[in-house]
Amino acid sequence: MQVHATIASLRAARAAAGNTIEPAQRVAVVPTMGNLHAGHISLMRQARDHADVVIATIFVNRLQFRPGEDFEKYPRTFAADCAQLEAAGVDHLFAPDEAEMYPQPQTYYVEPPAEQANILDGEFRPGHFRGMATVVLKLLQITQPHAALFGKKDYQQLMVIRNMVADFNLPVKVIGGETVRADDGLALSSRNGYLSAAERLEAPRLFQVLTQVAVAVRAGNLDYKQLEQEAMTELKAHGWLTEYVALRKKLDLQCTPVHDSGLVVLAAARLGSTRLIDNLEV
Ligand code: PAJ
Repeated sequence: MQVHATIASLRAARAAAGNTIEPAQRVAVVPTMGNLHAGHISLMRQARDHADVVIATIFVNRLQFRPGEDFEKYPRTFAADCAQLEAAGVDHLFAPDEAEMYPQPQTYYVEPPAEQANILDGEFRPGHFRGMATVVLKLLQITQPHAALFGKKDYQQLMVIRNMVADFNLPVKVIGGETVRADDGLALSSRNGYLSAAERLEAPRLFQVLTQVAVAVRAGNLDYKQLEQEAMTELKAHGWLTEYVALRKKLDLQCTPVHDSGLVVLAAARLGSTRLIDNLEV
């Protein structure tokens, strides 16, 4: 695996695959913030199904963190990440520092529409999707891939990226990967490392309540509000501070008054100081 700290170095290597219109080789990119786990690695392996050349990126993007969030303490485990990427057969790693990505303060931003960016996670993390979409656009411009892979674990993020790519006519196919979970159901996440031993035992409840909601909807329960409330009450009873449990349309994450085959139930909740998110397609 070749490691590139600069855009120039990545672009020089990328040039060997030809341009995006008449490619000699197909290129896929998997953007990450590092501290890699099996969820990230499953995206790397899926990328191989779509491309001859697989590029991973590692960059902890300050723009998508709010003041007071975990930007400073976000785990940075570069050597271990490189070993995992190497073992997964990734060809190139683009791992710039902040000066390379933001040589001057970013002045142009991708502004996702409010109905996508201010709901659910965006309600609790104002500006998050603007910062995320901005860095993803930069990473797509730098790596010029034919395919880009993102996890369904961050369902709203995937929706925002799909819409950005469509609206800006970016010549890239966005592919969503299934969520990889621990044996007890907890979705793998870099933030799981913040949990104490006791919290880690409690954490699978988030996926359990999502499963209960999904099972109830599949069985014909149409009272979405009540199902959401019951899920939040159960989490609260076990010490969680719940931000939302919401049944939404898969396509645009808007509310739906009627039963729809394309639903997803999403949740965000805090266990101690750790914020966890998860979702399940119904
Ligand atoms: P990060 O949290 O490192 O996640 C990188 C990619 O891995 C995202 O597409 C995410 O959805 C996916 N992922 C995380 N946990 C997963 C799991 N358990 N199973 C499957 N996929 C999983 O998401 C980001 O970084 C950033 O916002 C980024 C897109 C890189 C922009 O900065």
